[in-house]
Amino acid sequence: MPTLNWSDELNLGVAAMDAVHREFVALLAEVEDAGDAQLVPLWRRLVEHTQGHFDAEDRYMAATRFFASHCHATHHEMVLRVLRDGLEQGERGDLAPIRQLTRELAPWFTQHADTMDTALAGHLLQVGFDPACGAEPATGG
Ligand SMILES: [Fe+2]
Ligand SMILES: [Fe+2]
Repeated sequence: MPTLNWSDELNLGVAAMDAVHREFVALLAEVEDAGDAQLVPLWRRLVEHTQGHFDAEDRYMAATRFFASHCHATHHEMVLRVLRDGLEQGERGDLAPIRQLTRELAPWFTQHADTMDTALAGHLLQVGFDPACGAEPATGG
């Protein structure tokens, strides 16, 4: 049983964000379950997915001039740096950092989704931003 399971409580109401978050939870569960031989490739896949996940949210924030974008984007950058450091160490044969980060990612994700991502999703819904087409509706003025 993975540490983090998808539940409807994690839904933020923005379909594009929820779909990516659901994938993240599934990929993390696979990493958690991985034997040593599969750990580095599965971790690499999670890191690449997370890069795309964070890049998309950073784009939504930039496109809608979200007031808290700097703090949120900086947080993404810090987390990705740590995940990539883990990957480098894993590629050198030291799997302990990936195992450690895997344990830390479940509570981190829940916390991040509950705070920064919730605030972003609320903002996107409020301004009517549609991630699927990357634009706010015309205001007519
Ligand atoms: Fe997110
Ligand atoms: Fe985020």
